Amino acid sequence: MINRRSFIGSAAAGILLPASLARAAVKTNPFTLGVASGCPRSDSVILWTRLAPDPLQGGGMPPADIAVGFRVWEDAERRKLLREGTVAAPAADAHSVHLKLAGLRPGREYWYSFTIGDFESPLGRTRTTSRDTGNVRLALASCQSWQSGFYAAHSDIATWAPDCVIHIGDYIYEGGIGTIGTRTVQKPGETLSFRTVRLHNSAEIVTLWDYRNRYALYKSDRALQAAHAAAPWIVAMDDHEVDNNWAGDVPQDPWAQTPLEFRVRKLAAFKAWYEHMPVERPPKIDGISASLAMNDVFRFGQAQVHLLDTRQHRSDQVCGEGFPGQAPCTELGIAERTLLGTAQEQWLARELRASGARYNVLASQIWLSPWRFDAGGDAPEVNMDAWDGYPAARQRLIGTLADGVANPVIISGDWHCAAAMTLHERPFDPSSRPIAREFAGTSISSDCGWMREMEDSRAVNAHARYLNARHRGYCRFEADARHWTTTYRTVADPYHAESPVRTDVEMRLTDL
Ligand SMILES: [Fe+2]
Repeated sequence: MINRRSFIGSAAAGILLPASLARAAVKTNPFTLGVASGCPRSDSVILWTRLAPDPLQGGGMPPADIAVGFRVWEDAERRKLLREGTVAAPAADAHSVHLKLAGLRPGREYWYSFTIGDFESPLGRTRTTSRDTGNVRLALASCQSWQSGFYAAHSDIATWAPDCVIHIGDYIYEGGIGTIGTRTVQKPGETLSFRTVRLHNSAEIVTLWDYRNRYALYKSDRALQAAHAAAPWIVAMDDHEVDNNWAGDVPQDPWAQTPLEFRVRKLAAFKAWYEHMPVERPPKIDGISASLAMNDVFRFGQAQVHLLDTRQHRSDQVCGEGFPGQAPCTELGIAERTLLGTAQEQWLARELRASGARYNVLASQIWLSPWRFDAGGDAPEVNMDAWDGYPAARQRLIGTLADGVANPVIISGDWHCAAAMTLHERPFDPSSRPIAREFAGTSISSDCGWMREMEDSRAVNAHARYLNARHRGYCRFEADARHWTTTYRTVADPYHAESPVRTDVEMRLTDL
């Protein structure tokens, strides 16, 4: 029996193939990319899958909307069936399913799967949020370059089965095919070596076809599938989901991509991101312009998580794309330069004022705390792509956080380097008032080619209490009425899929 309500908004798109015909049209298992859930609320969650019997070649489904069966249980043993029905996998969305499961109870676990005839997806576990949860467990992940390592960190996340995984970007990388083997980089007194352990499936991705196949490649990984099946995720993209260091409508290399080409590319990237993420809102497409409503707020007991979008609304970087940028840089002082955009800045200030939570988390793709690479002159040499490249916007945000926000906790990624830092009112002056704690995660698998530069500049960055650029991994956060605990989990060998994952350090936050 088809649940008609599930088809609103998609049935008009094409012919709907009912389950029996759909099964006849699908010769091999279409659930090659696993399942996922996301956008957890106190009463709802989004369930995701995508039908792709031939995942690296566009999916391999017939060009019709397909009716997919779903079931939801209240127990892992599947004895207590809560709901079942049918949902459309629209051909226009690469046969992805985004089912909003509403009417759920707060702070509860649920299990789900999808079917087409006798094909059944893996079983997924999800969980609704609750303001009253006593102990919250969150994982922070980012930067999972396929070529530079395996996903042992994701296996460890799956085992831990947190309340939610927060992924803040670089879910895929857009680059072409590397070379299997070891690459060495000579540094003073040390030879660094990095390995390419598996290869991308195409040259640099540009078209919708390319982006879909790249997501399919990444999502074919068993450990990544396990982490998705273990918990709901909230996700925000960073740069590599589109193109390295893009900003608004400006690519990193405007001499190599025209504005028109970049817009079309961004549209393809946004569309494919939606098709592969357990998110509620598709991109808004106006002609060849696409935008995503990515920033959002989620409440997990004592912690309110503000998921930021630091890519789509930012002013272009100034004074060089490399790092450190070219100092001194007079353009850095321009007050109007923005990172979040005015609307998001105002939204964030409103949410923070109304929060009432003990911990106010800002999930920022890029580091909010400063990091200088020079010896301590008047014009700090910094990474222009991070908040360091947007000092006026950062000072506005510091003003908002300093205005009575309880325990601001910044969680960030992008830099492939783990760090625990204190953000001060005057960021480069550690004697000024502390405003927030920041926990930068490392990367699931991406290299930190600048690890020596980070280590060599540590002495002039006294606000950092912990720095680890040498290991891949992720962060665990646990919050209850009394404590916030951050645990840095590190992968012993990123070049082995079954590598052990250990605790490097555990830190307890004290009130500011
Ligand atoms: Fe990255």
